[in-house]
Amino acid sequence: MSILKVANIGHPALRGRAREVSEQELASEGFQRLADDLIETMREYGGVGIAAPQVREPMRAFAVEVRPNEGPTGRTAFPLHVIVNPVVRALTEEPASEWEGCLSIPGLRGRVVRPRAIRVEGLTRAGDPLVLELEGFAAVVCQHETDHLDGIVYLDRMPDLRELMAEDEYQRRIAQPLLMSGGDDG
Ligand code: NI
Repeated sequence: MSILKVANIGHPALRGRAREVSEQELASEGFQRLADDLIETMREYGGVGIAAPQVREPMRAFAVEVRPNEGPTGRTAFPLHVIVNPVVRALTEEPASEWEGCLSIPGLRGRVVRPRAIRVEGLTRAGDPLVLELEGFAAVVCQHETDHLDGIVYLDRMPDLRELMAEDEYQRRIAQPLLMSGGDDG
């Protein structure tokens, strides 16, 4: 496995539409290596998700993983998945907002509003059909990563760009107060 270089905002790889992964390609050594490398790279940089276009591979695939101790309290853990050719549909019109960051937009956080609950349909890296119904933080991450496959970044989804924050201000003003107010698990 290798840690790959992540493209930063401004790189055209982040603004194109990625192509579907064919059945044949999915089974290839090259794609399986990419899946391993996405996981390795996501973990190395402490991300909760990473999409193939972020490592300059214009394919419709991403990795997600929210470990139990990551992020402010209330962000439930989500096990490791590599999702190929995802299609996301909203299960509700009810919106939810979350502070998002992106490995391709280092040092910034912004508040984004998205549907609260979604269904993701796609394939696993083994080629098996995958259907997930998600809400909360996992739903946010899967929508964020699927957006990358269409050249969309979270900044494009912010209702108000004045809610963009530098990482240290986010930590001071949003993340720390959340931790101090406690979560479900006390
Ligand atoms: Ni991102």
